[in-house]
Amino acid sequence: MVRPDGPLICKGDADITLQDADHKIILKDKEFALCRCGLSKNKPFCDGTHKTKELKMTQAFNDERKEDINGIVADMIITVKTNAMYSIKGPVTIFSRDGLSKTTRTKAALCRCGFSEKKPFCDTKHKKCGFIA
Ligand code: FES
Repeated sequence: MVRPDGPLICKGDADITLQDADHKIILKDKEFALCRCGLSKNKPFCDGTHKTKELKMTQAFNDERKEDINGIVADMIITVKTNAMYSIKGPVTIFSRDGLSKTTRTKAALCRCGFSEKKPFCDTKHKKCGFIA
């Protein structure tokens, strides 16, 4: 779930695997919050820093790459790419907190630098903004 001006809330019926770019497991859990503003001191997790800033991170989005995930059963894996995005694999529903934006995917690249103009998706701005994490 994409929180307005806040983190990505990741929730699963089964454990979601969060791993680093070398496939080293960071966490396996059914729920956690990932930073999407790029300012957390506890990346990849949200530490609430977004509340201290005047951030404009919309929860609304459109997705032209929506996929049908009906009948697909697979583990959900989120890879924290070095100095770049969250790479998600597995059937996932991405939705805004107000429920007005919603898509389904088998894979997605989600912004964690805070600079994408297509939030919650990565648009490769991390390469230009000097994101280090
Ligand atoms: S991680 Fe923000 S644009 Fe790629």
